[in-house]
Amino acid sequence: MCGIVGYIGKKEAYPIILNGLKRLEYRGYDSAGIALFDGEDIQLCKTKGKVAGLEAKAEKNISLKGSLGIGHTRWATHGVPNDVNSHPHYSNSGDLVIIHNGIIENYASIKKELINRGYTFTSDTDTEVLVNLIEEVKKQEDVKLGKAVQIALNQVVGAYAIALFDKNKPDEIVVAKLGSPLAIGIGDDEFFVASDASPFIEFTKNAIYLEDQQMAVIRRGREVKVREIKDDKLVTPYIQELQLNLEQIEKGGYDHFMLKEIYEQPSVIKDTYRGRLLADKGIVRLGGLEDHIKRFTNANRIIIVACGTSWHAGLVAEYVFEDLVRIPVEVEYASEFRYRNPIITEKDVVIAISQSGETADTLAAIKLAKQKGAFVYGVCNVVGSTISRETHSGTYTHAGPEIGVASTKAFTTQITVLTMMALRLAKSKGTLSQSDYMLHLRELDMIPGKVEEALQSDEKIKEIAKVFKDAANFLYLGRGYNFPVALEGALKLKEISYIHAEGYPAAEMKHGPIALIDEQMPVVVIAINNNHYEKVVSNIQEIKSRAGKIIAVVSEGDTTVKEMADYVMEVPVTPETLSPLVTTIPLQLLSYHIAVMLGRDVDQPRNLAKSVTVE
Ligand code: F6R
Repeated sequence: MCGIVGYIGKKEAYPIILNGLKRLEYRGYDSAGIALFDGEDIQLCKTKGKVAGLEAKAEKNISLKGSLGIGHTRWATHGVPNDVNSHPHYSNSGDLVIIHNGIIENYASIKKELINRGYTFTSDTDTEVLVNLIEEVKKQEDVKLGKAVQIALNQVVGAYAIALFDKNKPDEIVVAKLGSPLAIGIGDDEFFVASDASPFIEFTKNAIYLEDQQMAVIRRGREVKVREIKDDKLVTPYIQELQLNLEQIEKGGYDHFMLKEIYEQPSVIKDTYRGRLLADKGIVRLGGLEDHIKRFTNANRIIIVACGTSWHAGLVAEYVFEDLVRIPVEVEYASEFRYRNPIITEKDVVIAISQSGETADTLAAIKLAKQKGAFVYGVCNVVGSTISRETHSGTYTHAGPEIGVASTKAFTTQITVLTMMALRLAKSKGTLSQSDYMLHLRELDMIPGKVEEALQSDEKIKEIAKVFKDAANFLYLGRGYNFPVALEGALKLKEISYIHAEGYPAAEMKHGPIALIDEQMPVVVIAINNNHYEKVVSNIQEIKSRAGKIIAVVSEGDTTVKEMADYVMEVPVTPETLSPLVTTIPLQLLSYHIAVMLGRDVDQPRNLAKSVTVE
């Protein structure tokens, strides 16, 4: 939710900030803005819409000079996306300028107080309130900017990653963090600020990730002084060496990041199990899990908390864990879990799944589970993210940066980690025969090759997309392990094509959704050769007899469903436990091609943001 970038050093700030905003656009793209200090004054430009629009406007309207600047790409919370509500925001005097990712919850009362003191507001944002509060504190207390920020933030309730500067003191940027991520890149006599490290990756590999409730004063050519906001204590920051490289955050010849990420799945699944799964030796070993095996195997139950696609990965894990480890599993939307006074005990283990590691609801669910004494394990993709730090232990997926807003490779790598966890625990608990255990290890090792094979149907899937791109609705059906895949297929289609789609357990169809079926309704059915095959075949017959159009995901060599379906998408034969890793591939491609054909903004679909740091 919102991306922030800042630069202070010797170079021209504009190209660095603009490029940084393009890389952070996945975090929100309702509006964008930039403020530079050109040596005499602040040059500010902002606009509704994307960073490309900002670029065109800035190049016409402001001087692009200056080696100090901040920029913002917005996912609107307070105030509609328009030019005025876009960041950066000035304080009333015009001296201070700020960018903010997050929400100031008590902004209304602060605003009232400031209005009583003569302040005026041009936007509807909470951010403009914050910058004026800082200005007021600075004036009243007669303190420097850093101190004023600290005092003001102690009056504020909410979440923030902020960066601001004062035109009268153009040698420093002040930043602060609570709840939203903030990284400081440390270059050679230059400093960068950003929501993640991608804006400065070509300039430095050294970064400080601020912790919650910390702020920093960054002085040009000098130092970064980090302190605790609450008690003013100076902190020696840990300088982390970044693993990210430029190639990982570029499109590499693909039309869209989403397509690149779909095609990366064979390699990132392998990266995720490399060194952890030694199929020939019968070993699966996850660093974060080894010391906690007993907690899992003795647990009363496992509770999985997540949102969106990660929640779907959790649903797949429910099947895997219950089947292989025989521990009861509940899968919860983090947003519901956190507010419904859940019963959690010290005998429960909570697994939190999150690609970004920043999702506000998942984070709140973790905090609640910890308060109630549960052991919390994280499955995250972003190294060093808040959730990865907030959990007791965990395992990273090695998907690399996922930039397309619609999640693809994060989903399959999450399932890979969760399956490895289940296999490791099954081994300890003795719930799987040695031969089944070995079979699963070998089959998991074969998944990258099978995903590669599934990707080869791309052209055929494109043809199917052509036929159905104008449909108004889609139904997705699956059973067992492939019920969550049906949900995920429907989510992918709706979020990037804006076509209404629903996922259902195939057998539930006759309890309601069957009423929707007519000759206009495409039904995507996952009908691979598994335990439920015959039953899914019956469901297909029920759809056919009501003239619905069947697009079936089938196992290679299938004949029965092939004869009944209007179109088929083949995937290699895989044990049911691992099948979501391959059946999800054609569904990703189908959504992708439909969205492209409809001219949608595939990587940045409307109204969405990659990292949902507000509840
Ligand atoms: C869908 C999608 C979202 C995320 C959800 C959780 O394609 O990307 O539904 O899965 O916002 O995000 P993370 O996994 O970062 O917690």
